[in-house]
Amino acid sequence: MTMTQPTRHEPIYQRLASHYRDVIHAGSLAPGDRMPSLRTLMRQHAVSLSTVLQFSRQLESEGWLEARPRSGYFVRHPRRSALARVAEPRLDVAPDPAQYVGIHARVSEFVARRRLQPSKIDFSAARCAPELYPGEALKNAAIRALRRQPDLLVSPSQARGSRHLRSVLAKRAINIGLALSSEDIQITNGCIEALNIALRAVAQPGDTIAVESPTFYGLLQILESLNMRALEIPTSPETGMSTGALELALQTYPDIKAVVVVPHLQNPLGSMMPAAHKQQLLRLCQHHDIALIEDDSYSELANRSDAQAASIRAIKSWDTGGQVIYCASLHKTLAPGLRLGWMAAGRWQARVEMLKYAQTRSNEELPQLAAAEFMASSQYDRHLRTLRGKLDVQRAKTAEAIATYFPAGTRMNLPDGGLTLWVELPGQLSSGAVFDAALDAQILVAPGWLFSNSRRFDHFVRLNCGWPYDAVLDRGLRGLGEIVGRLAHRLE
Ligand SMILES: Cc1ncc(COP(=O)(O)O)c(C=O)c1O
Repeated sequence: MTMTQPTRHEPIYQRLASHYRDVIHAGSLAPGDRMPSLRTLMRQHAVSLSTVLQFSRQLESEGWLEARPRSGYFVRHPRRSALARVAEPRLDVAPDPAQYVGIHARVSEFVARRRLQPSKIDFSAARCAPELYPGEALKNAAIRALRRQPDLLVSPSQARGSRHLRSVLAKRAINIGLALSSEDIQITNGCIEALNIALRAVAQPGDTIAVESPTFYGLLQILESLNMRALEIPTSPETGMSTGALELALQTYPDIKAVVVVPHLQNPLGSMMPAAHKQQLLRLCQHHDIALIEDDSYSELANRSDAQAASIRAIKSWDTGGQVIYCASLHKTLAPGLRLGWMAAGRWQARVEMLKYAQTRSNEELPQLAAAEFMASSQYDRHLRTLRGKLDVQRAKTAEAIATYFPAGTRMNLPDGGLTLWVELPGQLSSGAVFDAALDAQILVAPGWLFSNSRRFDHFVRLNCGWPYDAVLDRGLRGLGEIVGRLAHRLE
């Protein structure tokens, strides 16, 4: 394994830490193995003793290494690896009936409580700290765009979106197996607008849409606002929506008009759909002639490990008949403040363009030009590599804290990428009770009841790992662990 190329702002000790994390991840150094001696590491990497000590201590603080007196550093058995995984959903039960979604009241209550009772520590969002994004480079790209076109802000923008950005996106989409031209792409206000338009393009009020269970609550809100019915399909925390359950649902409910899936790092589960599974899903949608809406907001945050690289391919890459509407976001990967997303709608492209025009007209040109310039350069891939590395550390530390502070019976999966963790509370403990008690302690979590129209996930919480891990976050997780422990104890 070779060390990744340095990024301009990444200190050498961090590069070495990231290299040894990869080595441990890949199993070349296993738990219990001794690390090379400090002297060997200095010689091998041509660095000073202080650099070697710095990265070794960093890996120790993240729970990858432990120092043994007079023997050096050893690869640790992380506590998080002892946590049981979240159970697979039951598939031997009849599908739930499709329902009109009633989530607005719950989401509004969550948002209002969040506003009224300010919190010091927020684990509830699915986003990264602003400093993890290339703010300075984007600002400079925006200034350059304005210098090049001084009348940019007073000129009309292009209906489908900036041609430059669309061609950059088309070129990058080759990486996930897509052969798109810039004409196939519509720029949107985030992925949320893309999903809204996709659903309106393929379905009417009263229609049924099959969704993952649990799912991103924003999708349930869209369905509620469009007066569509959600049919929640059991979804594996490992491999995504169950195609067997979907097949049964398609036989039972002939009025399903579309299926919406997040194949990579599903929110909130973190599941990754294997290639065979994606193809099977597409075949089902083709057979029943319904739209497959693929929400790919997170694939750039999935690690490129050997085990995972083959799964990072868009479902749309197998789509020959235009059955798939591909939607994505630049919010999580590039810049939350630009509110950019995009879609490639296959056979519904003309209708999508019409709906976008009717709904919000075109996106502003300036953010698109700034994004296009940055994404066209090699800086974007470097930024993504650094972001994934930082998220790895933050996820590992958060998971280690959960394994340390939460009571026995807590379950969790550790996805190979992304910015959230989905945690099952012990003894079916209500996440509503945890949410209330945590808010009193000024800690905010996303309770499981936001992610389903049913009450099936009431005993889960989703925790954000997008912020650099520090003493404040550690105190927050310790406090949360104590709250969960206290409430779980009362159940016994
Ligand atoms: C799966 C999924 N899709 C879409 C969105 C919304 O994307 P955007 O912020 O680009 O509108 C989110 C945001 O959390 C998400 O998790």
